[in-house]
Amino acid sequence: MTLDDPRLIERADPHRAREVLTAFPAQCRCALTLVATPPLAISRPGLVVLAGMGGSAAGADLLAACCAERLDVPVVVHRGYGLPPTAGAGAHALVVAASYSGDTEETLSAVETAVERRVPVVALTTGGRLGELARTRGLPWVELPDGLMPRMALGYLFLASQRVLRDAGLAVGGDAEVAEAVDLVSALADELAPARPAVRNEAKQLALAVGARMPAIYGGSATGGVAYRWKTDIEENAKRFALAGAIPEMNHNEVEAWRAPAAKGTHAILLRDRAEPPEIARRFTVLRELIEEAGGDASECWARGAGRPAKLLGLACLGAWTSYYLAGGGGVDPWPVERLDELKRRLRAA
Ligand code: F6R
Repeated sequence: MTLDDPRLIERADPHRAREVLTAFPAQCRCALTLVATPPLAISRPGLVVLAGMGGSAAGADLLAACCAERLDVPVVVHRGYGLPPTAGAGAHALVVAASYSGDTEETLSAVETAVERRVPVVALTTGGRLGELARTRGLPWVELPDGLMPRMALGYLFLASQRVLRDAGLAVGGDAEVAEAVDLVSALADELAPARPAVRNEAKQLALAVGARMPAIYGGSATGGVAYRWKTDIEENAKRFALAGAIPEMNHNEVEAWRAPAAKGTHAILLRDRAEPPEIARRFTVLRELIEEAGGDASECWARGAGRPAKLLGLACLGAWTSYYLAGGGGVDPWPVERLDELKRRLRAA
């Protein structure tokens, strides 16, 4: 298979998802201008709940991983209906509810619960029912530019929610860290683009290394959340199963499944960080040995940059492009998500 034939890539991508991926740096720069209106009225919450589903929760995973090394305030990602009982008015909590379309029932339910409990809530959305709710209730609303698939709006979702926390007195990363992240994704937009041949394109190399096998993506303590993002991007863009896990947890369960003959049909992608603790590095090394002894093999991707926003956003870009080439290589249109849409349609009709 060649991924360097532009006709192959273009034929599989009639909705031009490649242009959205290439414009990701511009999306990130635009995200830096987005603020909540009316402004938030809460300062230094004692608990932050980031509510969202699917692609709209991906920014929350990245943000929570950035907060984990910085904040003394718990930041939890909530995927589901309602809100956890800990998010009550007495907890001095803040709910950041992200739904790109604004029509996701779980996220709407989280917002309704926040309103009922009088917990401050800010909405990140292009509009839809969530936009309507924000408008009628006078809730702070970060209005996101529309026209994208939710999972491709990661720059808006991650950077705008980071700004929300900053405006609430919880600084997750300084301007320099954010600028580093935007510079890195700008470099990657060139390095990973379809015009760059596979010999010099890490995303194409990864897609070729995976080939027809099942990808299994493993992160470390900081990069585990990005591993999950790779999995969902592969599922939605390439319409293929993928596994994701984090070290050390997967050492205590999933490692057991790395056996012949299944190992031969699986390719591991290890998301490494040069700042990972030595215990995690040792576990990656031993995991790789076990995978190879079972007849499998692994690729390693190293996070670039110094700050966590750059590392995580950079790895997320690499994953998005890898899933794009897995789609293109298989002649699959990365844009539509017909099963998701059908499921939502049937739920609405039920
Ligand atoms: C579609 C996608 C999905 C959606 C999810 C929730 O591109 O990524 O995972 O993100 O179905 O919808 P939104 O994001 O509109 O709340």
